[in-house]
Amino acid sequence: MVMLKDIIETDKKYYMNTFGDRLPVCFTHGKGLELFSDGGKTYYDFLGGIAVSALGHSHPEFISALKNQLDKVLHTSSLYYIENQAKLAKELVEATCADKAFFCNSGAEANEGALKLAKIYHYKKGDGKTEVISLSRSFHGRTIATVAATGQEKYQKPYRELTNGFMQVEPNDFEALQSAVTDKTAAILLELIQGESGVHPMDKEYVRKVRELCADKDIVMIVDEVQTGMGRCGYLFAHQMYGVEPDIFTCAKALGGGIPIGAVCAKENIAKAFSPGDHGTTFGGNPFATAAGLAVMKIFKEERLVENSRSIGEYFKDKLNNIAAKYPSKIKDIRAYGLLIGIELDEGIAKDVFKALFDNNILTSLCGGNTIRLAPPLIIGKEDVDLFINTMDKILE
Ligand SMILES: Cc1ncc(COP(=O)(O)O)c(C=O)c1O
Repeated sequence: MVMLKDIIETDKKYYMNTFGDRLPVCFTHGKGLELFSDGGKTYYDFLGGIAVSALGHSHPEFISALKNQLDKVLHTSSLYYIENQAKLAKELVEATCADKAFFCNSGAEANEGALKLAKIYHYKKGDGKTEVISLSRSFHGRTIATVAATGQEKYQKPYRELTNGFMQVEPNDFEALQSAVTDKTAAILLELIQGESGVHPMDKEYVRKVRELCADKDIVMIVDEVQTGMGRCGYLFAHQMYGVEPDIFTCAKALGGGIPIGAVCAKENIAKAFSPGDHGTTFGGNPFATAAGLAVMKIFKEERLVENSRSIGEYFKDKLNNIAAKYPSKIKDIRAYGLLIGIELDEGIAKDVFKALFDNNILTSLCGGNTIRLAPPLIIGKEDVDLFINTMDKILE
């Protein structure tokens, strides 16, 4: 058996050092919420591969759908019609306010596609609008344009000059947004709940006003649902929880249940700006990736996972609020939306609590400096929540 020490050595020697010192574990297989390490330990996955593994690990029906597609065909190319692609687009459109979908391979690529679509919509109108406003502390991906949209200095600084025409304003400050808008503003891009910077929601009223502003000024409203989408927040998409219809929304992560796929979903008046040749992809939406997406959608319905996300999310939030009341100087805030959960800790203890959770075999992430982020598989049950709460209680004590 290859030892963890050897894997780490090989990684350090041959893999680009973009992730630094990772947590010292390597998983060999998983089942449901559990991940098993090569060291023989069982871990509980409360991060879901960063909001990806919505079905948990090795979901039997999902794996069988993948195997079934593996035996048929993996890839054909966009020169030909693809049955799974058409069917998955239909599923997404029928479940949302969008009229058309386009598939790619990741969240960043979905946001790139959305930005291109917003730009070409204005280009074809000839109205001269080219600029994009996004929000401070947002995260939209790692490509040059999505880094330009990501309102965090640390991600932008090494890569300047970035794509021109992007600016950021403070979230939840409608006046700041309004005064940043000019007759060159093509699109406003936002996460409804900022995930990467620590689970920070937009106010409902703010989002409603953004929607109105975009409609009034013919600005394309793009909602980045890469993290908040696919049932994560107790609704299939977070914009449904907010009761707004964006012109474009993007998703990725959980859509493929672990197989890379992203989607740009848009209203017809915007989507039709793409003519043949204006945008494309080699791998995006291939038969295998869209078989994964279809299986995810099917299992979501059969197992009522969006409903589970909402009800277990409520249970989780109540339990966390109880524990926050027990340790008021240690837990500063609980921000929970379905199964996207931020536990903001006192700065002095955040890193230690994160490490203690890991030492107790519970996988989470630390984001925004002092917030433990949870994005567990949507299949979790009350007993899993209780396990987390009891461990947290023990650690905080
Ligand atoms: C809101 C949001 N947008 C975009 C991305 C980028 O997605 P990907 O890493 O698949 O490119 C992420 C990834 O964490 C995200 O959380």
